[in-house]
Amino acid sequence: MTGFFHTESELVCDGVPVSAIADAEGTPVYVYSAADIRARYRALDAAFGDHPHRLHYALKANSRFAIVQLLRELGSGVDANSIGEIEVARRAGFTPADIVFTGVGKSAAELECAVPLGLKAINAESAGELARIEALAARTGRRARVALRINPDIDARSHPHISTGLTINKFGVPADTARELLASMAGRPLLQLVAIHVHVGSQITSIEPLRGAAAFLAGVAAELTRAGAVLEYLDLGGGLGIAYDGGRAVSPREYVAALVAEAGATGLPLVIEPGRAIVGPAGALVARAIDVKPRSASSDFVVVDAGMTELLRPALYGAFHRIEPVRRGGGPLRAYEIVGPVCESSDVVGRDRSLPALAPGDLVAVLDAGAYGSAMASNYNRRPLPAEVLVDQGRWRVIRRRQTVDDMLAGEL
Ligand code: LLP
Repeated sequence: MTGFFHTESELVCDGVPVSAIADAEGTPVYVYSAADIRARYRALDAAFGDHPHRLHYALKANSRFAIVQLLRELGSGVDANSIGEIEVARRAGFTPADIVFTGVGKSAAELECAVPLGLKAINAESAGELARIEALAARTGRRARVALRINPDIDARSHPHISTGLTINKFGVPADTARELLASMAGRPLLQLVAIHVHVGSQITSIEPLRGAAAFLAGVAAELTRAGAVLEYLDLGGGLGIAYDGGRAVSPREYVAALVAEAGATGLPLVIEPGRAIVGPAGALVARAIDVKPRSASSDFVVVDAGMTELLRPALYGAFHRIEPVRRGGGPLRAYEIVGPVCESSDVVGRDRSLPALAPGDLVAVLDAGAYGSAMASNYNRRPLPAEVLVDQGRWRVIRRRQTVDDMLAGEL
């Protein structure tokens, strides 16, 4: 068994007791399972069977260097959303041909760096951005490989903050505009249109929006082919959700089968940009209880040493993460509000949880925190970024040491 599971007595990660890591490295600490990351990558990859494809792991989910290197060893490409992510990917050994550059607001400085690199594609989000890329291509005398992100007006039915596929959302260009822009490409020799792109949202838990987006993109690709354009691939974005409640999610097989069913007939290789589905369940945030105090007649607060600074998702989206005691205690369950130490009432890690009695010093694990956890952590309240540990084949190592006050002050004048 890989990933996080309970033995008789305690929570382990790939067989290593989580308590041993917390005792050695302190808390809060992120712990990741390398085996689980590999298994999740391979499940998605294998689901394509013979159909030509490439996974471009979405770095925004977690771009910790050791994890990025692990993905490279697996043969992944990457989706980078900033020049910072591109640079991290390059230092981890990815070549420009492994990188797609996505994002709704690529700055002039970012494009100036990106265009000469000759990336697999810059996924353009507007007519203006295409023009800016074209101008830079003219200046550098190098044709730019571009993809166009099209907004299919499809409701991902995820949290509104992470649904991106409706025309009221800021992402991409609507179908009409896309058709005009795509038609203009024939007369723009400095832009090489290599793909078209959709991404309708994140944490998508039903297959329909993902299937609909693939069908939509396949339709546009067919129109383009009839008009004589030659695409290299279709970029279907990311978005596959995970089961935060421990229940069932859309499986990699079901997901990929739907994509291939809708877009396979184009004959084009399919690119996907999964983030959460690869690293989400492979990481846990481990925290220690600092204080326990009464909340109501029937429940207590447990103040733990991790909160919205380490894991913003509950405060930002009302997201649910399972919270489990690291050591199995017996005894009756109690109702707890698990809260962080930050000076905000939104700093609640888990509301109304039923757990065996907790006391100061006890460890808890916040599960499914590998994606958009450490990536969205902050220094609010001058809290140092937590340590992070990767467990691989029964051994563990620190992949990022806990930040110090000196680290925090570096760069301040
Ligand atoms: N491709 C593009 C263009 C994206 O914008 C995203 C995510 C992905 C791929 C990867 O999506 P995934 O497979 O991970 O769902 N902070 C939020 C999630 C924001 C997602 C942003 N874009 C959260 O914690 O739920």
